[in-house]
Amino acid sequence: MPTHAIAVEEYRPESEPYYHPVRDEVSLFEAAAAGRIPLLLKGPTGCGKTRFVEHMAWRLNRPLVTVSCHDDLTASDLVGRYLVKGGEVVWVDGPLTRAVKAGAICYLDEIVEARKDTTVVIHPLADDRRYLTIEKTGQVHPAHPDFCLVISYNPGY
Ligand SMILES: Nc1ncnc2c1ncn2[C@@H]1O[C@H](COP(=O)(O)OP(=O)(O)OP(=O)(O)O)[C@@H](O)[C@H]1O
Ligand SMILES: [Mg+2]
Repeated sequence: MPTHAIAVEEYRPESEPYYHPVRDEVSLFEAAAAGRIPLLLKGPTGCGKTRFVEHMAWRLNRPLVTVSCHDDLTASDLVGRYLVKGGEVVWVDGPLTRAVKAGAICYLDEIVEARKDTTVVIHPLADDRRYLTIEKTGQVHPAHPDFCLVISYNPGY
């Protein structure tokens, strides 16, 4: 078991998170989500990336799963792992797997902080294949049609 904590938030806004559009990003996000195309949000701290995703989750009525990426994050942190619970070994889905199954928006914050052996799991989700492979269980999960991958990048941070 890793000793580091993984920061995951699951969020379903009840009222509209206030967002003042800067340009046409709302319709761009809607078009990308409808076309099942992943999004990259790039911009400095405080420019509204997180708020924008929260707003879009409300607008599209989808749950939002946010993972703050860092260099200790492993593929298992995202995908899931076997845990011992009450003397039994059980598989526990990670945040990415939960989002893939539930049709959530999965927001991988500061993706460049994560290592290559971690981000490799998102490759087949980020193109037209749209599936998640869980190596440890040997399962392949096609993404729910509403699953939407959003990654952020803060240049120079
Ligand atoms: N376009 C906007 N409309 C409404 N509020 C905004 C907007 N842009 C920024 N804000 C305000 O600025 C705050 C900081 O924005 P936010 O947390 O979304 O930035 P961020 O780009 O995610 O920053 P970081 O890279 O540090 O995570 C928000 O909580 C919100 O109050
Ligand atoms: Mg943010």
